[in-house]
Amino acid sequence: MSTNTIDSTRKVTTRRLIEMKQRGEKISMLTAYDFTSARILDEAGIDTILVGDSASNVMAGNTTTLPITLDQMIYHAKSVVKGVRRALVIVDLPFGSYQGNSKEALASAIRIMKESHAEAVKMEGGAEVAESIQRILSAGIPVMGHLGLTPQSINKFGTYNVRAREEAEAEKLIADAHLLEEIGCFGMVLEKVPAALATRVADEVSIPIIGIGAGGGCDGQVLVMHDMLGLNRGFSPRFLRRYADLHSVITDAVGRYIEDVKHSDFPSTSEQY
Ligand code: KIV
Repeated sequence: MSTNTIDSTRKVTTRRLIEMKQRGEKISMLTAYDFTSARILDEAGIDTILVGDSASNVMAGNTTTLPITLDQMIYHAKSVVKGVRRALVIVDLPFGSYQGNSKEALASAIRIMKESHAEAVKMEGGAEVAESIQRILSAGIPVMGHLGLTPQSINKFGTYNVRAREEAEAEKLIADAHLLEEIGCFGMVLEKVPAALATRVADEVSIPIIGIGAGGGCDGQVLVMHDMLGLNRGFSPRFLRRYADLHSVITDAVGRYIEDVKHSDFPSTSEQY
């Protein structure tokens, strides 16, 4: 268990994340989509696990997050929750399950909470989805916001480039961040925005700002687990730090296994009954 947090065994809650921001303790978040990975991350001491709709890319091989369904998100979330004891588990509401209809948004969030036993949901967008967020919050479900690059809107943006470089978009982002705080979100992700803007937002709002490609002024950081472990070779944005090269590790292990099988070196007499 990690020793670099103040209490590495106590269950992480949304309230604790806010307390961590207040005392200046950075929040660690990674994605997971399955039981085994979630258990490893939790045992390593991660504070929060995001069952991200990036599962659409890294688990299902889609080019965007749009195709993943609510049922599929619930399947991943259920698997993750079973592997976790300490971390807070947050689940993305997928594209099409909350935009434009707050009743449907609530029904989607309730399904996630009831069927997966996760502890919070995350939703992309600001003022446009405020009514849906409020309805979900009114049912006692904690909501994390997500501003900046919001991959569910990729067809509107047209690129995955840095967002809010222009003043008008930056002003809207700041207004949305304040709105999310006011309506009761317990935190928000800021994705791929200039570091100075993210720092300003983190300074101005009292809830934790978790950055991805948003610089070191955020209250915490999130990365997609497959990216930071070096499983995705083709994805190398500037913000990504690779902590391992599991692609090479796995390729080497599989290569040696194939060799052993081909040469009848596996199994040995001690590996059989
Ligand atoms: O789906 C996801 O993995 C995310 C993170 C990149 C924040 O939303």
